[in-house]
Amino acid sequence: MNSLFWLLLTAVTATAKEFTDEELSSFPKLFHLDDYDRCLARRDGLYCLGVFNLLPDVQPNPGYDLLKEYSDEFHRHFNRTRIHRGYCVSTRCPNYVTRNASEHFERCVDKYARSRSLRASINTLHYCHNHTDKHAIKPKTPAQNTFLQCIYAIIAINIIGTAYDLWTKDTPNKNKLITSFSIPSNWRRLTVIYEGEDPRLTALTPLNGVRVLSMLLTMLAHSHVLHFSFYTTNSEELEKLTEKKRGIFLSDGSCSIQALVTISCFLVCYNLLIFSKKQQLNLSMLPLCIIKRIIRIAPVNLLLVCFGATWWLHIRNSPLVSTTIGLESKACQTKFWAHVFFVNNLVDRGNYCLVPTWFLAVDMHMYLVACIFTLIMWRHRSKAIKLYTIIFLASCTLTGVVTYIMEYKSMIYLSTPEQVRRIFRDSESFVNFYMSSWAAIPSCILGLMLAHLQFELDEKRIKLSEYKWFVYLHYTAFPFIFLWALKGIFTRKYNTTIFIAAHAALDTSCYCLITCIFLLGLIHVNGPLKKLFGWSGWNAMARMSLTVLILHWCVNMIIAARPVAYRTSFLDVTVDWTATIVITYILAIPITVLVELPIQKFMGLLMF
Ligand SMILES: *[C@@H]1O[C@H](CO)[C@@H](O)[C@H](O)[C@H]1NC(C)=O
Ligand SMILES: *[C@@H]1O[C@H](CO)[C@@H](O)[C@H](O)[C@H]1NC(C)=O
Ligand SMILES: *[C@@H]1O[C@H](CO)[C@@H](O)[C@H](O)[C@H]1NC(C)=O
Repeated sequence: MNSLFWLLLTAVTATAKEFTDEELSSFPKLFHLDDYDRCLARRDGLYCLGVFNLLPDVQPNPGYDLLKEYSDEFHRHFNRTRIHRGYCVSTRCPNYVTRNASEHFERCVDKYARSRSLRASINTLHYCHNHTDKHAIKPKTPAQNTFLQCIYAIIAINIIGTAYDLWTKDTPNKNKLITSFSIPSNWRRLTVIYEGEDPRLTALTPLNGVRVLSMLLTMLAHSHVLHFSFYTTNSEELEKLTEKKRGIFLSDGSCSIQALVTISCFLVCYNLLIFSKKQQLNLSMLPLCIIKRIIRIAPVNLLLVCFGATWWLHIRNSPLVSTTIGLESKACQTKFWAHVFFVNNLVDRGNYCLVPTWFLAVDMHMYLVACIFTLIMWRHRSKAIKLYTIIFLASCTLTGVVTYIMEYKSMIYLSTPEQVRRIFRDSESFVNFYMSSWAAIPSCILGLMLAHLQFELDEKRIKLSEYKWFVYLHYTAFPFIFLWALKGIFTRKYNTTIFIAAHAALDTSCYCLITCIFLLGLIHVNGPLKKLFGWSGWNAMARMSLTVLILHWCVNMIIAARPVAYRTSFLDVTVDWTATIVITYILAIPITVLVELPIQKFMGLLMF
């Protein structure tokens, strides 16, 4: 008994040695950043940014051993034997005479390491800039010029459209093509609340609240992620975050993005089914559906990708811009055509431009799936739900099998500090599983099931609010939308391959199932939740979702890329989050009013 107790105790201590604050403070700082502008203001200034490996200088070296022991727990610690430095080499180590800058930099960091009985060898040199580099006048690239001209053109067309619209007032034969660019009428389209339309569609207004809420939570998670990506002075706070409930909630909550796939597939299928009452559906309508979707999504998507490729990295002046925003900006340039054809999550996957754009590609692929299924199945509605159940179960099983074979993991197992810092760039699971389209199939099928279910209920005039059990189920589902993500506290302790695969297969499907029950309730049950999510204020915000989804990443990156190493805390992240929300929604208004809505209308008039 006694020995068993000791065995347990040692097992526990062996897996989770707690490091004291004193030990932590004895470590070399993980990040350091000198003042870039001050350094290069001097004619002989030299500023370098790079990553260094630490090695022991003398043996035995208890300090290094502790560092290594700490870093080996990579599931919850940064790798402290790899330090990140931005040094003003010219003032820190003025007396070194070397032939080249990188050698100068390495010796300078090595000097610092030696003072702690360590050695430093260069791992990655991001750059070395001197006075002339910084002050060299960089001419605008052709791409930047083109982008500016496009912006001017868009503004000019809108001014013309508005002037024409105001000028002609109520004349009957106005040119609709020109008035589609009228700012007042597009503003009205953004803010109007449709009343007295098809009651089947008005019943869906609470979905707006759900979409806005999930967008806000996504932004919160991204605000946290970006504090990992830049230089912080109290990195141990971030390490602790990965074990705190808040961190687990946010990383496990990433599965909630799949609920947006469910909603989107539901809307596609439901609208088509309603349409089928008026007109017969046919598979030959597929190209038309695709064109309509592309017209809706492509303009804003391409505008922001072009912004990412050209001006994004010139907005913030920070020594870290070229290694963070710059990396994505390059990807926007090289992967531009992949974005045009919505295959950016299929080609050159590890190299991403504007991280959230993967969702647009997945959404487009799932839109295809939803359309094809609906166009075929609308005649066989009685069999549809049965068929979808089978496909749903099959696709869940397939996900499980593939994740088991390929050893993909859900976000909760992936979110180690180093991985989050690199935004999962070299994680197979993130690139091939999380961002993949095939992993979204179960969520999409659930959306189709929900659409058929709701359509049948409507046809048979069944109000689910008359069924007590369903009302209870709906109200029970609501807290689980949030609490589901807390299950990570328990699941992350089990890390056998089979459990991880089962988790990957069931996690998002279960979450989307709960969401479906909740959504069905929102449509049917009149109550406080319907009031809350159906608030008319969500309307305009939900209509800007597409712009916000991509734009918030640009905004958040710019905010987080401060030119100094900063302290992070819950308060600081919240401030970044709030600023991101406010700026994103304000910027989204002109983008939606001047670009998305008018182009959609214009192309619609032109083609149909
Ligand atoms: C930490 O970094 C060092 C140096 O780059 C590397 O050799 C080591 O494998 C890393 N440790 C972990 C746990 O990744
Ligand atoms: C600078 O020196 C290092 C080490 O001596 C060498 O490996 C590197 O190639 C040199 N770089 C240039 C640009 O000469
Ligand atoms: C600054 O760096 C450039 C190359 O990046 C080099 O050609 C130039 O000679 C350097 N200027 C000084 C003053 O060292």
